[in-house]
Amino acid sequence: MSTAVAHPNIALIKYWGKRDDDLILPATGSLSLTLDVFPTTTTVTLDPHADADRVVFDGAPAEPRAAARITTFLDLVRAQAGVTTRAHVDTRNSVPTGAGLASSASGFAALAVAAADAYGLDLDEQALSRLARRGSGSACRSVIAGTAIWHAGTDDATSYAEPVAGPALGMVIAVVDAGAKAVSSREAMIRTRDTSPYADAWVRSTADDLEAVRRAFARQDFTAIGELTESNALRMHAAIMACRPPIRYLAPRSVALFDEAARLRAAGLAAYATADAGPNVVFVCRDADVEAVHGALAERFEGDRLVAAHAGPGAHLIDGAHLIDGAHVIDEVRS
Ligand code: DP6
Repeated sequence: MSTAVAHPNIALIKYWGKRDDDLILPATGSLSLTLDVFPTTTTVTLDPHADADRVVFDGAPAEPRAAARITTFLDLVRAQAGVTTRAHVDTRNSVPTGAGLASSASGFAALAVAAADAYGLDLDEQALSRLARRGSGSACRSVIAGTAIWHAGTDDATSYAEPVAGPALGMVIAVVDAGAKAVSSREAMIRTRDTSPYADAWVRSTADDLEAVRRAFARQDFTAIGELTESNALRMHAAIMACRPPIRYLAPRSVALFDEAARLRAAGLAAYATADAGPNVVFVCRDADVEAVHGALAERFEGDRLVAAHAGPGAHLIDGAHLIDGAHVIDEVRS
């Protein structure tokens, strides 16, 4: 039995589009911050007597589609390990699943680390990142602590995330809607590539943004990092909105929160907005400013729906033997 914990990551320069759908090779590299909130805890137990994997999400049997995606992932691990033994997977999320709060990133990062250990694979961080990528692209970055760059690469061996040095960053998440999104990232990425007239421009400009943000990280230039972050997110949403049939993830409230970031900056607080494939908006700031940004937003936005976050650990194994239930796991990790 192997138990791993992983946290979601939020990209400053986004991954949106694949050059290889099967290997999950991205069209461009991306750059993110792994957070210290909303952990996923996953236990993998091998069952030599079972003829199928058994998957439990938050205490209930997983939906057939979600369970099939986990079995497909475990098949990759089993192929590497040279065994066919089935497994019991128990996963607990403290983040609303499918709400654009990156639950697939923490989910597949935790699963990769727990399954690799359960099946006896001895993988280093780079190999774990490559493995997690096969479950969900953004999961390769949740294997890494703090700020991570995912190198697009050209094949399975060269597409992985690794740490990137730069200024200490923090985030404040504004939960606009915690419900599941209507169109999954996976489907929406394909539709963007196939139908958005801005798809090629998105890929070209994101490759440029990534280079620019790398230089900004190297010279610890937070203003440039923030400006590139906000602009890159809006370009991604512009490309998505131009799909046919159209997809629009940003709600009116989300757009108002982008204005809120501009208001904070005008008041002297350096905060920049970003949003993934959902209506929630994430404010990126210097780590030392997290509480100030949280406080300023709480004055104008319901405080209970704002979550302050700092850099968090990469996916890692924990001693799960004594754990009673998932809630207990999460308390352990946070304390
Ligand atoms: C908007 O990693 O969920 O959050 O590889 O198809 O599983 P798949 O997609 P996924 O997409 C994440 C998209 C994003 C941007 C990002 O995290 O970089």
